[in-house]
Amino acid sequence: MQQLIDSSVLAARNLSVGYGEIPVLHNVSVAVAEGEIVALLGRNGAGKSTLLLTLGGILRPSAGHVELGGRECTTPAYRRAKQGLAYVIEERGVFSGLTVLQNLRLGSGTVEDAIAIFPELEPHLTRSAGLLSGGQQQMLAVGRALAAQPKVLLVDELSLGLAPMVVERIFQAINDARDRGVGVMLVEQHSRTALRVADRAYVLDQGRVVLDGSTSDLLPRIDEIEEAYLGGSTD
Ligand SMILES: Nc1ncnc2c1ncn2[C@@H]1O[C@H](COP(=O)(O)OP(=O)(O)O)[C@@H](O)[C@H]1O
Ligand SMILES: [Mg+2]
Repeated sequence: MQQLIDSSVLAARNLSVGYGEIPVLHNVSVAVAEGEIVALLGRNGAGKSTLLLTLGGILRPSAGHVELGGRECTTPAYRRAKQGLAYVIEERGVFSGLTVLQNLRLGSGTVEDAIAIFPELEPHLTRSAGLLSGGQQQMLAVGRALAAQPKVLLVDELSLGLAPMVVERIFQAINDARDRGVGVMLVEQHSRTALRVADRAYVLDQGRVVLDGSTSDLLPRIDEIEEAYLGGSTD
């Protein structure tokens, strides 16, 4: 475990984070290594998005710190993109009034790379992104993020509202990125879906890490884990 944390591309060390006076995360430590997919599970309100927002530099911790590439990182969100961090927020961050091509040009990578990752987007380049299906919009968001050749990718609620086949397709692209060495942290409500693609997972409950382990250790215990921390079956 220590070795894994030491080789991390992104880590939270003893983070405490809140909104104003309201504390949300308490002494949270997580890490993502090069070339691994880490799932972050927990029921609604557990603090998953708050953790991603802090790792992404959008929220400031009240205690503890974030490390990017093994170094303490206090830069604002827009600088972290240049430092190798890509972030697909829960709302996907697609500009619905712009075309697919304009959305891709706003990313740090090339349009060609994004299209190579999701050729499905090519026929829609001149369409307004707001007219795409939810799955196409998520491909646009993930394709734009991966085209930037990040060292680490954060994705919040990838599967939310999407058909299983589309989710499979996007996970396939994320798997390919992992195989190229990208570290990935996936926030998911659907724990079984997440554990199928991830290498490791953390479970958050009321702002604390209550469980972590390899997916091969956690999957056989999924019924018990869902019952205890995730409010029953999530798939
Ligand atoms: N902007 C905000 N202001 C105040 N409280 C918030 C805000 N965003 C989230 N919270 C609270 O923080 C807690 C964790 O929320 P969140 O990180 O969104 O959880 P999750 O992503 O796991 O569903 C919840 O109690 C939520 O109500
Ligand atoms: Mg959330």
